Amino acid sequence: MSYRVLVSDPLADEGLDILREFCNVDVRTDLSEDQLVETIGEYDALLVRSGTEVTARVIDAGAKIRFIGRAGAGVDNIDMDAATRRGIIVANAPEGNTLAATEHTMAMMLSLARNIPQANASLKKKEWKRSKFMGVELNDKTLGIVGFGRIGQEVAKRARALEMKCVAYDPFISKERAAQLGVELLPLDELFRVADVITVHTPLIKETRHVINAKSIATMKDGVRIINCARGGIIDEAALADAVKSGKVAGAALDVFEEEPPTASPLLEIDRVIVTPHLGASTVEAQKNVAISVARQCISVLEGGAAKYV
Ligand code: NAD
Ligand code: MLT
Repeated sequence: MSYRVLVSDPLADEGLDILREFCNVDVRTDLSEDQLVETIGEYDALLVRSGTEVTARVIDAGAKIRFIGRAGAGVDNIDMDAATRRGIIVANAPEGNTLAATEHTMAMMLSLARNIPQANASLKKKEWKRSKFMGVELNDKTLGIVGFGRIGQEVAKRARALEMKCVAYDPFISKERAAQLGVELLPLDELFRVADVITVHTPLIKETRHVINAKSIATMKDGVRIINCARGGIIDEAALADAVKSGKVAGAALDVFEEEPPTASPLLEIDRVIVTPHLGASTVEAQKNVAISVARQCISVLEGGAAKYV
């Protein structure tokens, strides 16, 4: 057992068990960047979720590191340029939490439509306010899906089962693929104009940063509802807060934030905004899937093989 692997965010036991068959594994989930820099030099591989910022400093200090594994989809917490410069293989586990994030999105959409979190909080304060929490039906409403990849497509399948009309925008997906799922691909500005509910499922990249902003919100239907279970920063939080306060946006559901935890977000103060602390991938099944996937890829790379998702 010559390989040493550092796991710096919580990883499901199923993944740790696989790693331990071949490697010495240290699980240390409380390390600051300085502590990570001090210790990383001893390890051949580093496995993270989204909690660890794998900065250029950390990567440069990892003299022996050959593999960085991300137990999840987004690799935005890993400095990819620094890793590439050092010839380190970075792999993620993009499929293991697709259904978890999809189901979280559906839960957010239904909660938004029926004011479930607000009504729950109210009743637990011993109130009985039935008219305050009048909802809307999703049946026959138009869902606009921005980013029609793994999660966007799974969301569409479930929304179709609720008899919603689905439209999507994704510059890299064909009309034919969308049509197979009963979804119409539209230009982004048209999607914004026709959707009753908008959900974003893109990575956070230059092109998608603040794609929902004051200007685009102004073109949306009055009373639109907006969901983000993808990445903080796709929505301009200040613009969304203003639009919910003004009533232009009837409600928003957010699992992710520009800064996490979102201590200063104006959205936390607004009752018609419902929030969860980045729980999209937090199911037993998803965490097992992603842990097994990165563990297997880690061993494969350390043994001279390839990673599946690079
Ligand atoms: P994916 O790569 O399968 O799909 C992303 C889609 O976005 C692709 O089809 C791509 O073509 C499209 N896209 C790229 N640029 C675009 C643009 N400018 N405009 C519109 N579409 C664009 O990814 P996925 O697995 O579906 O994940 C989607 C997002 O959800 C990612 O940001 C991922 O990190 C996030 N995620 C969050 C959680 C959570 O816990 N909340 C869990 C899993 C994934
Ligand atoms: C992901 O990108 O996979 C999600 O944000 C979930 C996570 O961070 O674990």
